Parts: sequence; structure tokens; C-alpha cells
Amino acid sequence: MIRSVIQGCGSYLPARVVTNADLAKTMDTSDEWIQQRTGICQRHIAAEGEMTSHLALKASERALEHAGLKASDLDLIVLATATPDETFPATATRVQAGLGMTKGAAFDVQAVCAGFVYGLSVADSLIKNGLASTALVIGAETFSRILDWDDRGTCVLFGDGAGAVVLKAEQGAGTTADRGVLANALHSDGRQHDILYVDGGPSSTRTTGFLRMEGKEVFKHAVVNMAAVVGEVLAKAGLETKDIDWLVPHQANKRIIDGTGRKLGLPPERVVVTVDRHANTSAASIPLALDAAVKDGRIKKGDLLLLEGIGGGLAWGASLVRW
Ligand code: UT7
Repeated sequence: MIRSVIQGCGSYLPARVVTNADLAKTMDTSDEWIQQRTGICQRHIAAEGEMTSHLALKASERALEHAGLKASDLDLIVLATATPDETFPATATRVQAGLGMTKGAAFDVQAVCAGFVYGLSVADSLIKNGLASTALVIGAETFSRILDWDDRGTCVLFGDGAGAVVLKAEQGAGTTADRGVLANALHSDGRQHDILYVDGGPSSTRTTGFLRMEGKEVFKHAVVNMAAVVGEVLAKAGLETKDIDWLVPHQANKRIIDGTGRKLGLPPERVVVTVDRHANTSAASIPLALDAAVKDGRIKKGDLLLLEGIGGGLAWGASLVRW
């Protein structure tokens, strides 16, 4: 039975760090409010001219190096982003060219903060169906470009960054002890459009638009949907909460992360948290958190990881991965 096994991961954050205190100098906010409500202390912001594809390329190079593979080994790139360099072509094709990869396919997936789980599920399915054998799955965003910097209710919450994993087809026994992606679950509910969206686009306003969010409403949906989708993906694999070694959640708000961990009965030391340093980097947040916990030695070969995220759409999902 074919399994998509994660061979390596990598991430990249823009050099410029903006602290809560920096923001408080230019708008009516405070370090205390931001930390209490979200757990965020700082975020990285892309430099002028530094685009989503640039962040994605750096994260991809690091992931390939960690995997011990070359760009010429790849036959698929799936890039999750809501902030592409251009309306078209797919930002993934920029990364393909940047890596010097000439074969296979490269395309973007758009599921905002759930984008990485969507991208991982798509790449996993293509590998299992024999359409690809070695895939790069990237989450990369420059949300700073779609923030209304006059809206303190949203602009303090987000940051820029990229993370990537390399998946490779391997034969497994078909048990949950196999390394690789064990199960995925994806959902969306288009009726919830108005609580989290960008008020622009090529076919509507012909502008890029700015992010709009009813934070409290999104919060409520996040807590309920995350618990449900985690249960669903565990049931698909025939596993239980107690089997999870690491929860690697989307990093939107420390209170949502803590709430999900509590509902699952997972102690805080088994939950990876980077929202304090990275803020909400949308599709990049899960692979950024994953890379941090792999590189500092917390996540070890054979560990069972639960990745989950929710964002605009609403769109949400979860993946269960044996590292
Ligand atoms: O990644 C996609 C998924 N997104 C999420 O999961 C986000 C989910 N939502 C949240 O994380 C939270 O709802 C927020 C962090 C966005 C907001 O927290 P909240 O506890 O729901 O606060 P609120 O929006 O109800 O605002 C409370 C107060 C308001 O003042 P009044 O009306 O009570 O006087 C806001 O004006 O806080 C005020 N406020 C701020 N004060 C200082 C809003 N933003 C700020 C700010 N600094 N930056």
C-alpha cells in the first residue's frame, strides 16, 4: 500500500520583526491587549519587494536539504496561499522555476488558514493515486499586504512566512504504525463567507482588497469545528486522542489552541505553539510550527502528529501523520 511519507521540512521567516510595542507606537493598541487576547508577542513582516514566492522558495530549499533530496527528484509542487504573487499564474510555478525543476506539475491551493492541510491532502491523494511520487507541499503567505493597517482589530493578528514539507511515495504495510499521512478530513461552509473574507479581487472590485473579520464569530466556529474534525480524522484512522504525540495546530490565537488541547485532553507540553513569535501566518502557520518542533528535537521519528486548521470560507480540516 502506497503511503506519502514526509522526508523533510523547512521554513523561512522574513528578517524584519515587528513587536507589539512597535505597533503600539503607531496605533491605539497595547502589548497587554494583544498578548492577553491572542498570545501574540511579535510577527515577521516581508520587506518591500519580498513576495510570497520568495519566502516559499527559501522554505522549499531548506525542506529539500533536510530531506536529502534535489529539485530534480520532485514531480509535484502544491502551494497553499491566499496571497499569491499575481492573480495568475500560480505562485507554485514561480517556485518551480526558482528551484530549477522542469518536470511534473505545480499549482496553488486556496483554503486560507486551512490551506496547508488542504495542500497536504491533495498531494497525498495524488501520490496514492500514482500521479506523483515526490511532492513539495508549501504554505506561504504575505498577509501584511492584505491587512488594513487602520483596523486594529485585525492588523495586529497576522504575520508573513513560509513552511514546506517534502512527501515521497513509499510502500507501507497499511497499518497505523506506518510512517506517512494516515488520514485526512476536509470541510468548508460557504454560508460563513461574511465573517472572514477579503473585500476585493480580480472579478469583483479589480483591486486586491483588505482582510475583514468578525473575530468573535470566527472564534466560536474555530473551537467547535476543530474538536469535531480532530475526532473525525482519528476515527478514520481507528486511533484515539491518547495516541497523539503532538498537536500541531494552526496558529491563530493561543486561546483557541489551548481550548482545542483541553477538549482533546492533551497536556500543553504536547501542543506546539509558535503564535507568540510568528502571529497568524495563515497557510504557513502549521508547517512553520512543525519545522520548529522538528528542528528543536521535540518531534521524533515515529511520533503521531495531528495537524489542524480553520480559516476563511469557512474552510477547515485535519491530517494525521506518522512522522
Ligand atoms: O486564522 C483564521 C482564523 N481566525 C481566528 O481564528 C481569529 C478568531 N478570533 C480571535 O482570535 C479573537 O476574536 C480576536 C483576537 C480577533 C479578538 O478578541 P475578542 O476577545 O473577540 O475581542 P473583540 O473583537 O470582541 O474586541 C474587544 C475589545 C473591543 O473594544 P470594546 O468594543 O469592547 O470597547 C475592541 O475595540 O477590544 C478592542 N480591540 C482592541 N483593543 C486594543 C480590538 N482590537 C484591539 C487592539 N488593541 N488591537
